[in-house]
Amino acid sequence: MNSVVIEQPGKLAIQRREIPQPADGEVRVRVKYAGICGSDVHIYHGHNPFAKYPRVIGHEFFGEIDAVGAGVSPDRIGQRVAVDPVVSCGHCYPCSVGRPNVCTALSVIGVHRDGGFSDYACAPAKNAYVIPAEIPDRVASMVEPFTIAANITAFLQPAPRDVALVYGAGPMGLTAVQVLKGVYGVSRVIVVDRIEERLAMALDCGADQVINNADLSLQDELAKQDVRPTIVVDAACHPAILQEAVNLASPAARIGLLGFSGEASSVTQQSITSKEISIFTSRLNSHRFPQVIEWMVQGKIDVAKLITHYMDAADVEAALTLFEKDQRHCCKVILKF
Ligand code: NAI
Ligand code: MN
Ligand code: ZN
Repeated sequence: MNSVVIEQPGKLAIQRREIPQPADGEVRVRVKYAGICGSDVHIYHGHNPFAKYPRVIGHEFFGEIDAVGAGVSPDRIGQRVAVDPVVSCGHCYPCSVGRPNVCTALSVIGVHRDGGFSDYACAPAKNAYVIPAEIPDRVASMVEPFTIAANITAFLQPAPRDVALVYGAGPMGLTAVQVLKGVYGVSRVIVVDRIEERLAMALDCGADQVINNADLSLQDELAKQDVRPTIVVDAACHPAILQEAVNLASPAARIGLLGFSGEASSVTQQSITSKEISIFTSRLNSHRFPQVIEWMVQGKIDVAKLITHYMDAADVEAALTLFEKDQRHCCKVILKF
């Protein structure tokens, strides 16, 4: 089989490898489609602190089960599945309170262990979620990115009367917009970014209003419009955003952070406590695949709206470069295996 391997930072190869045998409790997936994510690019460039090399990247993938390991029902062979990349121990404290995504022994497929940019990939059977017939193959790898929005919004508990501000109209911001509108029915969702084409996508994903802050102060603009967001999702993830978000938020607002920057954010206690602002963080997802699959079937989210390109897996290097360099025209790039 062919596998996309980052042999060391900056060095990508399509390697010929033996087809893996599923271990006890695992299934083997014949991968059909896999989405490119910012973290794949980070591993490629050596910017992901968790990655070990060589590594088969890819954690957003869909395919068909073609073999099972010991202890897994052979009835699963032939199932169309999307794979949750979060592999957890099941018994540590976070696992015991339903948060396997921060398991003390967390292993993420495509980061800590080999992933889905490969003709075949193995994963624990319980991580392989059946995709109903209503969801076509071409969009089924999009479950994982939407689980990020499912996870953060579960903390934020949006309600129709909320006014939400989403920083960033990249893939993550757009999933948040769709979930805030389509699932929670938030009445007003405002998206801020510096890239006009991305803001157009945000409107297409259901945003009520967009603001380009390339040349203006977001805080001044919202003050002028007398808008005080009650929910803020930071899907742009610059460390400076936190203090701005706190300043412009309504009293009793909730702020959701997704970023992994190692740089400090400076924020005063006074600015948070005086408004009793709640700050939530969210990493990957905790068992949110079934929820997202249901939203797709019910038509509450339209994941195809984020897909701008399909490319052959053989062109993975060009696909990664396009994804990274052309933010104006690229959102999700899906590889065909
Ligand atoms: P992206 O880079 O495609 O999108 C970020 C967008 O934010 C860009 O369009 C950029 O123009 C905009 N932006 C940057 N600074 C801004 C500012 N000050 N004001 C307004 N807009 C600004 O990235 P993507 O894929 O959408 O991911 C977003 C972030 O989410 C990344 O930092 C990534 O590390 C993080 N992430 C976190 C996950 C988690 O589970 N916590 C999972 C996936 C991604
Ligand atoms: Mn991803
Ligand atoms: Zn655990």
